[in-house]
Parts: sequence; C-alpha cells; structure tokens
Amino acid sequence: MKRLAGDLLGERPPRLANIARKIRETGLAPDTAEQRARGLVKWRQQLLESQPEMFGGASLAREAVEFATGYRRRVDQSLVSLALEDFKSFVDVEIPLAPLTLFVGANASGKSNVLDAIRFLQGVASDLTISDILRGRHEGGREVWPPIRGGAAEISRGETTRFGIRSSWRIDGEHVEHRLECDIAKIPCIIREALSVGSAKLPLFDTHAKTLGTQAGVGVGHSLAVALERNKGGRRVTQRHSAMSSLLGQLERTDNVKRRVYQWTSRLQDVMREATFLDIRPSQMRGYAPAQAFELGADARNISPIVKQLCDTNADWRDRIVSWLSELCAPQLRDLDFVETELGDVMLILVEEDGTRISARSLSDGTLRFMGQLIALITASPGSLLLMEEIENGLHPQRLNLLVELLEGVTADRGIQVIATTHSPTVLAALSQNSLQNAVVFGRVPEVAGTQARRLGDLPHFAEVAQRRGVERLFSTGWLERAM
Ligand SMILES: Nc1ncnc2c1ncn2[C@@H]1O[C@H](COP(=O)(O)OP(=O)(O)OP(=O)(O)O)[C@@H](O)[C@H]1O
Ligand SMILES: [Mg+2]
Repeated sequence: MKRLAGDLLGERPPRLANIARKIRETGLAPDTAEQRARGLVKWRQQLLESQPEMFGGASLAREAVEFATGYRRRVDQSLVSLALEDFKSFVDVEIPLAPLTLFVGANASGKSNVLDAIRFLQGVASDLTISDILRGRHEGGREVWPPIRGGAAEISRGETTRFGIRSSWRIDGEHVEHRLECDIAKIPCIIREALSVGSAKLPLFDTHAKTLGTQAGVGVGHSLAVALERNKGGRRVTQRHSAMSSLLGQLERTDNVKRRVYQWTSRLQDVMREATFLDIRPSQMRGYAPAQAFELGADARNISPIVKQLCDTNADWRDRIVSWLSELCAPQLRDLDFVETELGDVMLILVEEDGTRISARSLSDGTLRFMGQLIALITASPGSLLLMEEIENGLHPQRLNLLVELLEGVTADRGIQVIATTHSPTVLAALSQNSLQNAVVFGRVPEVAGTQARRLGDLPHFAEVAQRRGVERLFSTGWLERAM
C-alpha cells in the first residue's frame, strides 16, 4: 500500500501498469485492478489540478489506498439544485435536489422534463454542439448521442425560442454555479454562459461581464466573447469562442488567465458528464456478454460479467449479492455461478436451495430488473449521479421497501446521488422521514403557467398531515398537488 501511494504522490505521472500490478498484489482480479488503476490515475490528475498543496501529504496516501481497495470512499460532488427557465413545461422554477430525490406527480406534470435538462447538461459537458445535443449525433452510421425528446423544436416552452438552465453544484466543499442560456430561433446556440465558484463576487468566466461592453452577446460567425479572471487581478481577459457549444470545453489556456478558471471548468465538465440514465432492459440482460466488459451499461446488458467480476474480487460481494437476491426471489437462492464460453463470454446462473440452476436466459423480468438496479447502485463510481425512471416498474409492492432501503443505503454510504421518478404510493411510504421530506412533487394548475415543483418538506403542514393520514393516502388522493 505504501508503495502505491509513493507512485501516486511522485512528481512524475505514475505508470498505469505499475499501479495495476500493485493493486493486483492486494488480491484483486486483473481486470478490476486495471479499472481501479485507471480511476486512480484520473483522480490523481484531478487532485493535482484542484489541490496541488495536498501532494506530499500523508492523508493523500491514505485516500489513495482507500480509493483503490474500498468502495466506501466518499467523493464530495453533487447537484444541489436546478433552475429551469422556459425549458419545456417550466416557466421559471428551481428544483432542490438531495442525495436521494424522488420525483412524484401526475402524468405529464414535468418530472421527465427535468431529467431531459440534466441530460442536456451532460451533452453540454461532452463538448457536443447545442444542435447535436438536441437533434442527436451519429458517427460512422452509429448513434453516439440520442436526441433529447422533442428535439430542437420543443426544447423551449410554448412559443418561446430561448431557454435557460442554471445548475448549482457542491464540489470539493465549494458552491459551484453554472449558468447557461440558449437560443434556438435559427441555429441553436448559446447566448449566455457563466461559471462562479464560492462566494467570489465575479464569476470565473462570464459572457455578460460589464468589461465586455458592446462586445457582449453573439457576434459575427456565431462567436461569443467571454471575460475571464485575470492572473494578477485587474481588468479581465477577453477571449472569443464559438457559440455553438459550451465554453467549458473551449477556453484557451494562457498565462494571463488564473489557473483556477481551467481547473474548475474541467472539474465541472467531469462532474456533469458523470450522470448515468439507467434504462434497464431485461431482454438485453439474458444473453452472454464479454467477460472483459468494464461497465454495466445503461440498460444493464453486461450484468453477467459485472456480477462475475464482483464475485471474483471479493467473497463479500458474493455474499451480499446472494443475500439481497434471496430476499427478492422465491424460492430461496443459495449461490451464484457462471458459465463461460471458449470465446470469453459469460452468463450468470442462479443456484436455488434445492440445487436447481437457472440461467440468466430464464430469469423473470422482475428479478433481472432488480438485479440491474442493485448492481448499478453498488458499482456506480462514488460521486456519480444516477437517474432512474419509474423505479417501481416490474417489482412486487412487497419488494419495493427493499429497493428503497438499497437507494437510501448507497446514497448515504457510497456518496452516490440518485434522482428517480415514481408513481408508487408504496415507494413513498417506504421512505425514511428525511428522504420523504426531500421528495419533490410536480404539478400544473390552471391559474399558473407551467409546471410547479415543491419539496414535500416545504409543503404547509406536510409532516403533521402525513403522520395523521399516511403519505400513501395523501399521494393517491391528490393532497400533495393541492397543497402546492
Ligand atoms: N416545449 C414545451 N412547451 C410546453 N410544454 C411542454 C413542452 N415540452 C413538453 N411539455 C409538456 O411536458 C409534458 C411532458 O412532461 P414529462 O414527460 O416531464 O411528464 P412526466 O411528469 O414525466 O409524466 P409521466 O409520469 O407520464 O412520465 C408534455 O405533455 C407537455 O405538456
Ligand atoms: Mg416521465
């Protein structure tokens, strides 16, 4: 362990192979070790950029070791709130977000529109053009980015042609605020973007800074002027970039601009990109999948190899997975097994108490769905954001409390953030007091234009009424929507 820390703390970048070899020595499988090593090298780079003073300290060594071997390490990054302006069904609404936030509300109330906004930001951080984010992108005939629902035509509310998304993040103890406004009247482009960190009065960069004067706004050839924080203070530095994609990926590194401008833009890009939209498809989980797969996949198609890698890594995992699944599946489950083809593809087998072996091919939809959710939650990298639609789909109400327990566990222990939609009163009833208060209800009322959103804990008399009448009843009788 000490040797590993030495490699990471040295001034020269560590060699991936060396790190992987040292992690393997702790007993991890080669694939897992390599995956962890990659994570470590990436993390070292982030740390070097954001907190260079930490290099050389003993605490870093401890963190490095925890990261490589433990899965409990917390990463301090989360989406704190999202404010949507003329975005789809929203006029101007701020949605507060917690480590675990459930979205409830009638059909077409706007829950999935919020998830669309988060996916839009993921595209923004992936250096795609606004047009590609909205319309989708193909490379070599293959779809590399599916369009946002409704495309460019229906991204902004009603007849409007502009929309804004303001996202607030907590990253490494700092409050980070990113502000974006787009115009889709002709060629979809950015008309305003700014990034602020902490309590500093001026943003790190801003396309509407006073110093830009008449240069502000989209100019010739769809270019956008931006003012950046100067290295030694004083008048801001101006750069000009394309308005077709976010400035996060375009700012030029020059000596006269403060280093932290780039450190924070690249850090925020990484955090924004790390969202996973789970869309579990049992039909995709029933086949063989490559043993070397290193990610579950948003549809959980690599369930078999990922479960195998977890079991190979540590007997603890095997026991944990078996015990979770045996609570879900009747008849009782005894063990997990795998068959592997000559070509290196794997399929999962569940072994029941009486020795009956059931391959992934014949597992029920509900079992596969639950397994997909379970494995996604326990393998997501700390600090990542998971988005899930209608989590109750395909699960028996009796099992929903197990799912809720799992969601509350991973968000508290693993530093993962989950935003999920639900139509199930049972899910709400299974939530802890804290998660219940953090749930957000969406609704539309004739007197007010657009979607309204309120945290349950902020509804008048919510705690008292929920206690008296039970939240399931408040939900199914429409009390929550009326209380908004
Ligand atoms: N550009 C737009 N302008 C105005 N309203 C819009 C726009 N785009 C979508 N909407 C509204 O948002 C609705 C879809 O909302 P959304 O998909 O978020 O619903 P939901 O709460 O997820 O519902 P469900 O529970 O059925 O999935 C549309 O039916 C429409 O009323
Ligand atoms: Mg929806």
